[in-house]
Amino acid sequence: MTLKNTDDRWGAVSQLFHWVIVALILVMAYIGLTMGDLPNGPRKINIYALHKSIGLTILALVVLRVLWRVYAGAPAPVPGTPTWQQRIASVTHFLLYALLFAIPLSGWVLNSSAGYPLQWFKLFNLPAITGRSDGVHEAAEGAHELLFWVLVALVVAHAGAALYHHLFQGDTTLTRMLPGRRKAPTPAPVAAPASSSPTPQDSPDENP
Ligand code: HEM
Repeated sequence: MTLKNTDDRWGAVSQLFHWVIVALILVMAYIGLTMGDLPNGPRKINIYALHKSIGLTILALVVLRVLWRVYAGAPAPVPGTPTWQQRIASVTHFLLYALLFAIPLSGWVLNSSAGYPLQWFKLFNLPAITGRSDGVHEAAEGAHELLFWVLVALVVAHAGAALYHHLFQGDTTLTRMLPGRRKAPTPAPVAAPASSSPTPQDSPDENP
């Protein structure tokens, strides 16, 4: 497998970005949906700090991922995919990228407008991107949660489409986003002519 994307599959770098971001989003969804119910105390503060640090990490990874996408391009659509499906896939992919930016940024605005400090894994501080404001804080909080649920809906559709292609269309849509040297679906076998006799290429002795 190559680092860069080729015409028929995603390269190692794009695959790594895709699956690391998926894993981080799953972790973030779990933390985000449960941290509000934690009892007040140092543990809750640490979990909120972790949520913010992972969110900033996703934001940085998405910036790098988009830059790599521009540099390395993307594979051509899987042969046989109807144009309407290609269009829906392109719009979905664009919206997924947009949400991957918008969700962490709305979290940053929400944090800044509440006047909370922002650190990345206790290593360095990041600046506020808005001033303190109750109105902005409320709007950003609503947007952060709403955008998350829009992401969930899109991801369900997106992953469902990938699995549908794999299980029912038998094409390479999913496998070309997975590591390893994966074969395209095997074409139907062609019957050999009855009179065929071994050619020189068939004999190992004659092809040292
Ligand atoms: C948080 C969850 C996910 C996000 C945010 C996400 C995001 C994306 C994005 C933005 C692309 C477009 C790549 C590009 O054109 O630059 C993509 C491609 C892809 N994703 Fe996901 N994805 C997620 C989960 C999944 C899951 C669970 C699966 C499989 C079950 C999956 C399978 C694929 C496949 C196969 C492609 C390549 C499609 C193609 O070659 O045209 N994704 N994903």
